[in-house]
Amino acid sequence: MYKDLFKLCLFLNFVICCQSANILYLMAYIGKSQYIMLKPIGLELAKRGHNVTVITVFKETDPPPNYHQVVVDDKIWDAMGGKRPSHFTSVDLSAEERHNRFLWNGGLTLTEVVLNSTQVKEFLSADHKFDVVISEQFFQEAMYILAHKYEAPLILITSYGNCMRHNIATRNPLQLATVVSEFLVVPEPGSFFGRLRNLYFTVYEYVWWRFWYLQKMDQLAAKYVPNLKEPVPSLYEIQKNVSLFLINSHFSFDPPTAYLPNIVEIGGVHLSHKVPKLPQDLLKILDEATNGVVYMTFGSNIQSAMLPDDKKNAFLNVFRRLKLTVLWKWEDDRLENKPDNVFIRKWLPQNEVLSHPNVKVFISHGGLIGTQEAIYHGVPIIGIPIYGDQFNNLLQIQHAGLGKLLQFHDINEHTLQEMLNEVLTNDTFKLKAKEMSARFKDRPMSALDTAIYWIEYVIRNKGANYMKNPGLEMSWIAYYMLDVYAFILLTVLSFVFLTLKILRILKGFVEPKRDFRNGKIKSN
Ligand SMILES: *[C@@H]1O[C@H](CO)[C@@H](O)[C@H](O)[C@H]1NC(C)=O
Ligand SMILES: *[C@@H]1O[C@H](CO)[C@@H](O)[C@H](O)[C@H]1NC(C)=O
Ligand SMILES: *[C@@H]1O[C@H](CO)[C@@H](O)[C@H](O)[C@H]1NC(C)=O
Ligand SMILES: *[C@@H]1O[C@H](CO)[C@@H](O)[C@H](O)[C@H]1NC(C)=O
Repeated sequence: MYKDLFKLCLFLNFVICCQSANILYLMAYIGKSQYIMLKPIGLELAKRGHNVTVITVFKETDPPPNYHQVVVDDKIWDAMGGKRPSHFTSVDLSAEERHNRFLWNGGLTLTEVVLNSTQVKEFLSADHKFDVVISEQFFQEAMYILAHKYEAPLILITSYGNCMRHNIATRNPLQLATVVSEFLVVPEPGSFFGRLRNLYFTVYEYVWWRFWYLQKMDQLAAKYVPNLKEPVPSLYEIQKNVSLFLINSHFSFDPPTAYLPNIVEIGGVHLSHKVPKLPQDLLKILDEATNGVVYMTFGSNIQSAMLPDDKKNAFLNVFRRLKLTVLWKWEDDRLENKPDNVFIRKWLPQNEVLSHPNVKVFISHGGLIGTQEAIYHGVPIIGIPIYGDQFNNLLQIQHAGLGKLLQFHDINEHTLQEMLNEVLTNDTFKLKAKEMSARFKDRPMSALDTAIYWIEYVIRNKGANYMKNPGLEMSWIAYYMLDVYAFILLTVLSFVFLTLKILRILKGFVEPKRDFRNGKIKSN
């Protein structure tokens, strides 16, 4: 019955819009929170009648019939060398070190696992046609070659905010004075040293990306996706030519930035007012916690069960003294010395928990997806950044007044107690959080509708080439006006030089007298 109804809807959509497209959606990265953000877009496209094929590592159990999944076996942690690393031991790594140790090589390894999987090989060897290729943009660039394979426009989606490398590739203005590179930790972004650091890292990242890492990705693409129509463009060329860039930010929270028309903000795309129901056991805990709830998690990737003992005990001792209930994502079966007011679960439906009115504060690592969920539901945050964009997200939270940033090394009973007291007793945090929540939702259409609108726009307009920056066709010397500046500089210098020369000649007419008086005769 449901399936029949569904088919009828698809048919109607097709008749009314004539817009049922074949869509390939690539989201094969292993980050669970990234998947949480990306999957509603694919499902919604299917719901609206498109034939959607996804390459993914997470499987949906009950998708619509026109949502096809190519699921890559989760052998990925084996490929990465076995166990998940503890992120707490690497809090102090600089952005450069993090790229060199994890991101570049991790991205190459993961992408190879995906391309080399039997499922993807089988899929690629079959005969398919796609009207558009959508891909997540996160260290999986070799996948973009599929846009060339299927001769389809490419759409990229970030699970974090703005992307510096792509600003350069798509020729969106860099705005280094106000926009900090996404994974860089800069405590004072506008200061002289903040801007210098930002410039240095942006150049560093771009050079490594473009001239080392992307070449390796090119090799992967050539190895696993052969027999393409010549000439085969480089992955850099493909990214330069991207039709649409959907980025996970919104100016109500992130710094306002100038964007080309084909860069669209969809921050909060996985959120809607229709929040699924909490499981019965959790609902009971939350409903009964009339004094309020502290919700704590370090996200899907960082395991709080790996916290060093001194930090873990600090949390336990502070929680024990609270009148509130604590809900903690703790990945072990047991938590020793667990106080009675603390409830642990290995996984928690975070968006649902944060939507409960009894939740008073969110202790978080500052991952963007969770931060957006807290913003959406108006919950103040105490944030402990560990890596990536977390510091920047939390700096913004603190700046906007809806939370506090606590550095990992500063965690102890005293700091925790003080911060919790402040955020729980001072109403301004709650007020600011509600304010931010209202303005985050205040848009002409929801983030999901925005994403779908622009994807369908690109399909309707066959890649919408006219939205791309005309500067893409210029050399970088012309684009950055260096030839014009050089000309002006040269003109000014010549003018100064000529003026000086003339002055000297004029002086020559006046000077000889004096020289004569001194007993010297000049030739001119
Ligand atoms: C939908 O996509 C799948 C590939 O996943 C393909 O096999 C199928 O033929 C497509 N259906 C239509 C109606 O185009
Ligand atoms: C690709 O997969 C095959 C098995 O399917 C495996 O034997 C081979 O080592 C893999 N290659 C790489 C480079 O991972
Ligand atoms: C509450 O916090 C705000 C902002 O940090 C501060 O200006 C205000 O003085 C605080 N109020 C109290 C009563 O501590
Ligand atoms: C850029 O993409 C469009 C489709 O969006 C395509 O028609 C065009 O050939 C591409 N240009 C290059 C240089 O790849």
